[in-house]
Amino acid sequence: MTTTPANSTRAPVLEFDDVSLAFGSRRILDHVSFEIRAGEFTGLIGSNGVGKTTLLKVILGTQRIQSGDIRINGTKRTARLRSVGYVPQKVSIDADVPIRSRDFVALGLDAHRFGLRRRTTEDRRRVDELLEAVDATSFADARLGDLSGGEQQRVLIAHALVSEPSLLLLDEPLANLDPRSVQEIVALLHNIAATRDVAVFLSAHEMNALLPVMDRIVYLTGGRAASGTTDEVVRSDVLSALYGHHVDVLQLHGRVLVVAEPGTTTDHLPSHETLKVD
Ligand SMILES: Nc1ncnc2c1ncn2[C@@H]1O[C@H](COP(=O)(O)OP(=O)(O)O)[C@@H](O)[C@H]1O
Ligand SMILES: [Mg+2]
Repeated sequence: MTTTPANSTRAPVLEFDDVSLAFGSRRILDHVSFEIRAGEFTGLIGSNGVGKTTLLKVILGTQRIQSGDIRINGTKRTARLRSVGYVPQKVSIDADVPIRSRDFVALGLDAHRFGLRRRTTEDRRRVDELLEAVDATSFADARLGDLSGGEQQRVLIAHALVSEPSLLLLDEPLANLDPRSVQEIVALLHNIAATRDVAVFLSAHEMNALLPVMDRIVYLTGGRAASGTTDEVVRSDVLSALYGHHVDVLQLHGRVLVVAEPGTTTDHLPSHETLKVD
């Protein structure tokens, strides 16, 4: 189920075409198709365990699919590409690891090269520019392990962007942040998508924090996906068809609630957005 906005004339950065993947008898992706574009912020929304991390690993090439095609910048994905930046879901940074934020960002320059090499003036300029873009200049020389969650997230984003990818994947980057940091990181990523011509693709089990900035959404449940602009997807008829039973979508004080009918299990609806009416 894919709907494409009329104004999307640019070539897609990422295309999923009829992609299927199962773990044993459990279908994680069941004929999933969607596209995302440069300069856009796309949310990958679904409850825990639905397959968001698996889908991102498919893009990275670390998880095989059973059928379908994936194209990045119009080319079938083969090995891990320089054009994809990635901020993984679980990054545990030991406070004892003596690496400065600045040096960690610079490591992103080496990710696609064989071995380390001397930094050039151009490398240093690029690292500085990225640190500034994520507003991390003030802690650029602090140890990564000493930073707060929100500060570490900024450094991880700079690390993923320093090789100038056209697609930036982030796996639940907001999950462990306080509400203020969530707002700041969301605004930062929106700005990055708009000003750097990057396609930002971010997974979350809660969409409300993303509503002000999301250009498009890929909504995943039960192996199936609905995609399009947020207005096209977050609707009662579209989500009811996707879930296979009736759900209402309520707008309340700028938030969205997906409401199941009485007697329907809501276990598979994204948390904090659901209201079970009995
Ligand atoms: N390599 C694997 N083999 C078997 N099952 C897996 C594997 N990876 C993930 N799963 C299962 O697939 C489902 C989707 O996992 P995941 O992609 O991590 O979901 P999400 O990121 O949306 O929480 C989960 O039930 C998980 O336990
Ligand atoms: Mg996950």
